Amino acid sequence: MEVLEGIKIIDLKEVFSTELLVLLKKIEIVSKKRGERVFLVGGIVRDSLLGIWSKDIDIVVEGDAINFSLELKKTIDAEKVITYEKFKTAVLVIDSKIKIDLASSRVEYYEYPASLPIVENSTIKEDMYRRDFTINSMALEIEGNFSSEVIDFYNGQEDLKNKKIKVLHNLSFIDDPTRIIRALRFAGRYKFDLEKKTEILLKDGISEGYLKKLSWPRLKQEFKILFDEKNSMRAICLLDKYNILEEIHPMIKCNEKTLEKIKKIEKVGKFFEIFKIEKWLIIFFILLENLEKNEFNQVLIKFDFTNKQIKKYNYGILKKTEILEKIKKIDLNSEIYIILNKISIETIVILMVESQNSDEESYRKIKKYLFEIKDVKPKIRGEDLIKKGIKPNKFFKSKLNYYFMLQLDNIHLKKIELLNF
Ligand code: CTP
Repeated sequence: MEVLEGIKIIDLKEVFSTELLVLLKKIEIVSKKRGERVFLVGGIVRDSLLGIWSKDIDIVVEGDAINFSLELKKTIDAEKVITYEKFKTAVLVIDSKIKIDLASSRVEYYEYPASLPIVENSTIKEDMYRRDFTINSMALEIEGNFSSEVIDFYNGQEDLKNKKIKVLHNLSFIDDPTRIIRALRFAGRYKFDLEKKTEILLKDGISEGYLKKLSWPRLKQEFKILFDEKNSMRAICLLDKYNILEEIHPMIKCNEKTLEKIKKIEKVGKFFEIFKIEKWLIIFFILLENLEKNEFNQVLIKFDFTNKQIKKYNYGILKKTEILEKIKKIDLNSEIYIILNKISIETIVILMVESQNSDEESYRKIKKYLFEIKDVKPKIRGEDLIKKGIKPNKFFKSKLNYYFMLQLDNIHLKKIELLNF
């Protein structure tokens, strides 16, 4: 990742897709009509400078973002607009892939450390100053020919080039302690370092207990976002280095073995999409696996898991070794099904990754379950048994189950062959 030396002008036409440019044109038209300047800000500017495609579009309106978004909705085919009067912001959902966040340029006051901010209108310069890090405090005006100078009051480009995460002022982590975790997330993601003074402020913030001042839902959300990062390992090492994992549970240990597992998990990213798994959950469980049962349950309660989920996960995660032992000894599809069907998909993926390279046979069976067994639908249904003259009684369900197991072990048998087996 190289930030081009000295480049201050960005030609948006070279950076963005045609789809996005069409959208920006419409934004520009509304901006002209309303006489309000609009800017791309935050992550999309940072990532454009790094040559990375960013899917989040953050826009600041020097004016009234709510009315701006309502007017914009008339010209673009958006699914919906959600407005937040209190924060003077709006979200325009274009479709499942694209959403635009609009905010009125603002200053924020924090009544007390870690509180939610009080918002007042301001210029783009002041708006940039309220932000977390210099690399996130740059803007690009959406105007005329889309050849826009990077608005960079706080040397974000310099820090991007020098790979530094730097706060804009000494109170940044006090105002919003979630920035402590954000700093490590960005440092991990881009392989950047914390700028010297920023690191001191961050360490002070941690030892002063700023994170404890946050409401748990806000803290939890930051952990989830970090664990969801494509390559979360470096950021997790940083959480460990600065003793932040302790906020989840003091007994969490992030040792070599844990990191080795996370590394393996990061390599099988494609499974998360295929099986619709939330990646953060897998990373989270790997971090929790050395806890005792009651400690594990405590953390899951803190993270708002239901009792049913807690039961399911703690069986799978805490009994992993036993489950792998059982899998070693079996071979039939029905046996694999019986063992794995009661375990969460997240645990199964962890089991698969753990057995890879160390126990190829179990790895093969788990993979077979995921790709060939898990989604098999029973060919024999209740009505088929009734037609066959079997009366619905208390054994009916186990009869159906018998046929299903038979089907799993004889996957190519037709329905009629199964019924006559
Ligand atoms: N921001 C901030 N302080 C926070 C959260 C966000 O100053 N605690 C500002 C930053 O300028 C950030 C922008 O709001 O760039 C958007 O925030 P967010 O969408 O959370 O992050 P991105 O920078 O877009 O990063 P990501 O690529 O992770 O979405």
